[in-house]
Amino acid sequence: MKIAIGCDHGGLQHKNAIVEHLTNRGFEVKDSGIFENKSVDYPDIAVKVCKDITSGECELGILVCGTGIGMSLAANKVKGIRAAAVSEHFSAKYTRLHNNSNILCLGGRVIGVGTALELVDLFVDTKFEGGRHAARVDKVMAIEKE
Ligand code: RB5
Repeated sequence: MKIAIGCDHGGLQHKNAIVEHLTNRGFEVKDSGIFENKSVDYPDIAVKVCKDITSGECELGILVCGTGIGMSLAANKVKGIRAAAVSEHFSAKYTRLHNNSNILCLGGRVIGVGTALELVDLFVDTKFEGGRHAARVDKVMAIEKE
């Protein structure tokens, strides 16, 4: 599986740790930066990672900012994206199982690196359950057409 990732200055340390972790696990990772600790606007990075998903190049994405919220707000404006801002284990798993989320958003100022790596593992290792949840996700995506 190929995974897209990006961060702003609020998530650089976490992003770098996640890239190393996923690479060590054997995933192919497309890193859209940032690569040095300078202030950037999180929507610019969010759009890059979203395009990696909607183009079909990557299956899942991870975005890290200070809270995870700005990245999720920006990502959810992009058609085809279901981004979830998550800071605990249950939601990391169930947003894949029930929402078929394709981007995990994390807060570098909210959770530690160790927790972030565990949430990433749950997210990438969990498959969408489908069934009754498929129709609900379809309804969510239909809102894009209104
Ligand atoms: C940047 O200071 C911060 O606002 C950003 O990382 C993020 O937390 C926004 O939601």
